[in-house]
Amino acid sequence: MNAAAPPPAPAEQAAVVAEDVSKVFFAGGEAVWALEDFSLTLEPGSFTCIVGPSGCGKSTFLRILGGLEERTVGTVSLTDDGQRIPAAFVFQEHGVFPWMTVLDNVAFGLRMSGAGKAEREATARDWLARVRLTDFAGSYPHQLSGGMRQRVAIARAFATGSPVLLMDEPLGALDAQTRMLMQEELIALWEQERKTVLMVTHDIDEAILLSDRVIVMSGRPGTLREDITVPFERPRSFDIERSPAFGELRARIWNLLRDDARTAEERA
Ligand SMILES: Nc1ncnc2c1ncn2[C@@H]1O[C@H](COP(=O)(O)OP(=O)(O)OP(=O)(O)O)[C@@H](O)[C@H]1O
Ligand SMILES: [Mg+2]
Repeated sequence: MNAAAPPPAPAEQAAVVAEDVSKVFFAGGEAVWALEDFSLTLEPGSFTCIVGPSGCGKSTFLRILGGLEERTVGTVSLTDDGQRIPAAFVFQEHGVFPWMTVLDNVAFGLRMSGAGKAEREATARDWLARVRLTDFAGSYPHQLSGGMRQRVAIARAFATGSPVLLMDEPLGALDAQTRMLMQEELIALWEQERKTVLMVTHDIDEAILLSDRVIVMSGRPGTLREDITVPFERPRSFDIERSPAFGELRARIWNLLRDDARTAEERA
């Protein structure tokens, strides 16, 4: 008997379970298989990134997990201590309501919580302080920079209290420097809150820097190509990017993606 191997976590402890999920879209009379037999289990409090070629079904998978899209085949469940829960989303862009103030945008995430208006506002103000936007509580999204707008979206998702955050390229529209700052801020919030995060990114370095696991998907229909455990300890210094081990992992992931990324690019 192998005493060193820990027993696998019981399924009921897992925050997110997807089993054999497939999805077909019908567009112009044609069936397009976006996902095929895609399975994923996330432990509570883990940070996982999905990378994959354009059009392989990453957004579709997140939308299915979050209940925004029906699956064609398979099962999904999001649970906390055995209770079914809704997920909180952060999208790449256009995730905040332009007609609401920053404060109202964050408070909106709490509308399902059952809390009264004053309590919702107090929680929203607390979250605005944590993302350094207190002075912009009364501003509208168009008055903010792209980075600030994404901080509003991230604050709203955290403020909902949902233990599962689904993020679809949340930093994808930001310039390189803002993006690096936001990576640090996001990981700091996650380390304080330890929510279960599933994040789609096209940036391999970002995936390695932030996550415990990198899920590499194949081209369409998206299937699981590889499930890679990131070996770097936390808390992480972002200097790990310069280490040989980081470079090796980046090369390994890129090797898995390269051919499918080229096919996706030629197909677009
Ligand atoms: N509502 C829809 N109707 C028809 N086809 C769709 C629909 N949504 C997505 N698709 C198709 O499903 C496939 C997967 O799309 P999806 O947006 O999930 O890919 P993705 O991996 O998120 O791509 P990207 O990296 O470009 O964001 C694509 O071929 C897309 O055209
Ligand atoms: Mg997408």
